[in-house]
Amino acid sequence: MEGMIRKDNSGWWDGSVGYEIYVRSFADSDGDGVGDLPGITGKLEYLSWLGVDLVWITPFYPSPMADFGYDVSDYCGVDPLFGTLEDFDQLITEAHRQDLRVIIDLVPNHSSSAHPWFQSSRSSVDDKYRGYYHWRDPSSDGKPPNNWVSHFGGSAWTLDEESEQYYLHLFLPEQPDLNWNNPEVINEFDEIIQFWLSRDVDGFRIDVAQGLVKNMLMPDNPIRFQINESMSPRQVFASFDHRYDLDQAGNLEIFRRWRNLVDPHDALLLGEVYLRDNDPNRVSRYVSSGDALHRAFYFAPMHVPWDPQSMWDTFRDALDAAPEDLSWALSSHDDPRAPTRFGGGEEGKQRALAYSVLLFFLPGLPVIFQGDELGLPSIELALEELADPVATRNAVETDGRDGARTPIPWNSSSGFGFTHGTPWIPIGNRSEKDTVEYQQKTHGSWLMRYRTLLQIRKDNLDLDSPLRWITARDSDVISFSRGGLISALNVGGSGQILSLPNGQWELAFHVGEVALNDRSVAFGENSAAILILAS
Ligand code: NOJ
Repeated sequence: MEGMIRKDNSGWWDGSVGYEIYVRSFADSDGDGVGDLPGITGKLEYLSWLGVDLVWITPFYPSPMADFGYDVSDYCGVDPLFGTLEDFDQLITEAHRQDLRVIIDLVPNHSSSAHPWFQSSRSSVDDKYRGYYHWRDPSSDGKPPNNWVSHFGGSAWTLDEESEQYYLHLFLPEQPDLNWNNPEVINEFDEIIQFWLSRDVDGFRIDVAQGLVKNMLMPDNPIRFQINESMSPRQVFASFDHRYDLDQAGNLEIFRRWRNLVDPHDALLLGEVYLRDNDPNRVSRYVSSGDALHRAFYFAPMHVPWDPQSMWDTFRDALDAAPEDLSWALSSHDDPRAPTRFGGGEEGKQRALAYSVLLFFLPGLPVIFQGDELGLPSIELALEELADPVATRNAVETDGRDGARTPIPWNSSSGFGFTHGTPWIPIGNRSEKDTVEYQQKTHGSWLMRYRTLLQIRKDNLDLDSPLRWITARDSDVISFSRGGLISALNVGGSGQILSLPNGQWELAFHVGEVALNDRSVAFGENSAAILILAS
């Protein structure tokens, strides 16, 4: 099989459940207040006890940390803040010993401005690295070359006074975009990928997979909505039709090339494909040919409100577009945590757990964000505690992404078992009941229920059974069967009834009020159930 591209997206990840580790906030082994690689190694046993199969670690490479590691200054190293390469090797060895796979975050859209390539590139217009990035002359009025904007606010162009040219950055000015039309950039990343494969990683989560290739003529993007000064960076970004900076056909060529590199190692390519309006038909192009990405995150479920019609739209359209190959997440380090998004308090928590019942049984790869399993809501930080550049660098008030990035409460000692130093960001108002230690010994806790849910998935989900919707848009209960298993989520009021297909069904798991009668199930508010056909 060496060198052959397998034309389907199946692999060891088919049945797996993933777990995202935001390294800064997971576990700190040395007391500097920042999570690190040995901290993760120390918690692998917990992850394996929880029942996940795959761990995705956010960037740990050397970095000035302008975007907390998503600004990489050396793609083949470990930042001393997080440990050493030996620590990384140990993490992999220990994970594999415990049957856990590890994927790492590859950040190809941009490097750090401190990367030697960029340093060299900005030193002169004739430098051999100039073409690694996008440099352009100012427009005729001296302004940026076009109207592209950064995700994080303002123009996507920064003027380099020395050479009187602008460089492109779809994120911070400290994150210059690499030029994926340059074959040398392509070769550099081939080597980076080989470097980590030779250290036995099980795959890559690809950051900004939708953004790599740009239209080199760099025309203005069409404007969809009127922009005004009170808009957040996210709203401004969404006001453009990103016709020329995102989702260019050339991205797929890159991923096909990478597929050739990873397939002989049986490694996974999981893309962050963040597209306008989350159009599933566009996301599906990254996986549908079976020779590019194996899995692509689909982000609409992370934003959908608690409303049956919006959920039907989200899930039905996505599964029509890509029936097998999407990846599902409840929360992430970039978005509010699910209990908060679903209204907060006990109700928000219950909804988040009920929602997991739906999400985790869909075809594709579910990924838990650290702390989802504890039912943690986001933390509200004071203005002066905010660290995310999205919040700190914009005049328009936006709370940024910090609320989802606070440390994991492991136990109720000082520093919540996360650190014996001062945490890099406040842990916030967590209580003993939020901690792993408390929940592990408490019957019926969120953690124990999550674990049961994962076990039921492992024991009962027939991966070869396709999804069949058993309710439709006129129902507030969203439900489907896969072989002898039914997953049902009630997004409506209480008293919703689901009629069951023929057979003798047993209630294997439920959230909220659920009553199984002879041939039907009655649901209370914010409830969900897994039913299994008795054999
Ligand atoms: C997506 C990452 O998840 C986010 O945290 C980061 O800021 C951007 N990509 C830029 O790398």
